[in-house]
Amino acid sequence: EPILFVTSELADFVKVGGLGDVSAALPRALLNHYDMRVLMPAYTEVVESLWPIQTIAELPGLGHIPGCTLGRIDLPEGLRVYVLVCPELYERPGSPYLDPEGRDWPDNHIRFARLSLAAAQMAAMTADERFEDEGWHPALLHLHDWQAGLAPAYLRWQGDETPCVYTIHNLAYQGLFDPAIAPDIGVPEHAINDHGITFYDRLSFMKSGIIYSDHITTVSETYAKEITTPAFGCGLENLLAQCHSDGRLSGIANGIDDSWDPKTDAYLACAFATNDWAGKRANTDHVRRMFRLAVSHGPLFAVVSRLVHQKGLDLTIAAAESIVRAGGQLVVIGCGEPAIEEALRNLEARFPGAIGVYIGFSEREARCIFAGSDFLLMPSRFEPCGLSQMYAQRFGALPVAHRTGGLADTIDDGVTGFLFDELDQSAYQHAIDRAFRVYGCTELFYAMRRAAMAIYYQWRLSVTPYRRLYHQLMADTPHRLG
Ligand code: ADP
Ligand code: GLC
Repeated sequence: EPILFVTSELADFVKVGGLGDVSAALPRALLNHYDMRVLMPAYTEVVESLWPIQTIAELPGLGHIPGCTLGRIDLPEGLRVYVLVCPELYERPGSPYLDPEGRDWPDNHIRFARLSLAAAQMAAMTADERFEDEGWHPALLHLHDWQAGLAPAYLRWQGDETPCVYTIHNLAYQGLFDPAIAPDIGVPEHAINDHGITFYDRLSFMKSGIIYSDHITTVSETYAKEITTPAFGCGLENLLAQCHSDGRLSGIANGIDDSWDPKTDAYLACAFATNDWAGKRANTDHVRRMFRLAVSHGPLFAVVSRLVHQKGLDLTIAAAESIVRAGGQLVVIGCGEPAIEEALRNLEARFPGAIGVYIGFSEREARCIFAGSDFLLMPSRFEPCGLSQMYAQRFGALPVAHRTGGLADTIDDGVTGFLFDELDQSAYQHAIDRAFRVYGCTELFYAMRRAAMAIYYQWRLSVTPYRRLYHQLMADTPHRLG
């Protein structure tokens, strides 16, 4: 069956965090079972890529949402991607969400209402309107995060019952806007209240996705439970708890794709397999040279992360001196909040030769770091799933992480990494101390490395629960099919 996967990031073109990876991997993993196609904005990176864009249709606007051109790109491994060509909205410097100064684009409500509206338009087209792509037409929409949260609303507001799955990758980003913009994006009067998409006097794209979709998933089982509680629910906990008791909320863990394999990764200084610890060490030496660190026999700790409050960088910054005093070194790659970037630069200046910091985004360097480091630090305050800790384990770097969300589900404490329960400095320090002790006991350290590299969180494991869900939803709305 035809399914449209609607996302604001795709690692083939542009990736801010894990959503880009998931969007590149999950539809491909499902291609054997469904005619999966992706819909995303044609950002500058898309328009300037080498892939030709074939024009398919013109989509009308609504309110202040401009009309746009629907294009098609055929990517490797049979992945067909529909892109929304609308230069005034999407062809800009900066990231998909922020301008070059790091501020939200002021018209994000228009930009992502445009994405959501296009998804609804593609689903709701009648047989004689269908566009020139062999009449392709989705039988189900799989929507991701707040950027696609209005899609089911646009459908339901016009009485269309196309089944919708809404996946929450991060509840902390909700897409909240001034209710005055409602007419600009075609929100009807009857939806502007607490039973509709109003959330504490704001319009919430996230809430729209939750209330109008048939089923909500999030990216780990633990996070699915956490978001029904006040500590993690960001104010939506009661609504989500209701979804859970109605059987409309479930957790399906992300996986990692086959490109994350130290035996074949072409970016590495030296490909290596389990037990080839000399090969692993060659990568460690490479990372030390990359960051101008001193030659050392101590452990190399790493951070590969968006630099945002969620990721607990303040805890790592506070622990850095103790790591250095104990004979360890630390490398960081990341970008994000200017204050965190600044604090990390200061740390590097204080401990030259022991701490190296690269402020920026680079897939190649990130892979080298996973391959070269002994431990990955991830004291996230919350973590819906987390991919970095999975990549690290596959590359033989043991994660030191807070027991929360997907970190709790994908790290086996004392076997493939180190988990700590309370989010405070002393609990974190204690976990780091455990890492040092294991490092000092070579046999145990190598046994943990072997266990970590053997973790099996392939996308294959996630395919079955998504299939079951799609199947159930399409069976429930048979009148839409055919
Ligand atoms: P999140 O989606 O919250 O950022 P995840 O762990 O799910 O967290 O995914 C983050 C992804 O982004 C991982 O693939 C990680 O390797 C990558 N990443 C984060 N920061 C950088 C960076 N500065 N350079 C390269 N890759 C990065
Ligand atoms: C979000 C979450 C992260 C998750 C990713 C992909 O960005 O912060 O934990 O792994 O989405 O689902």
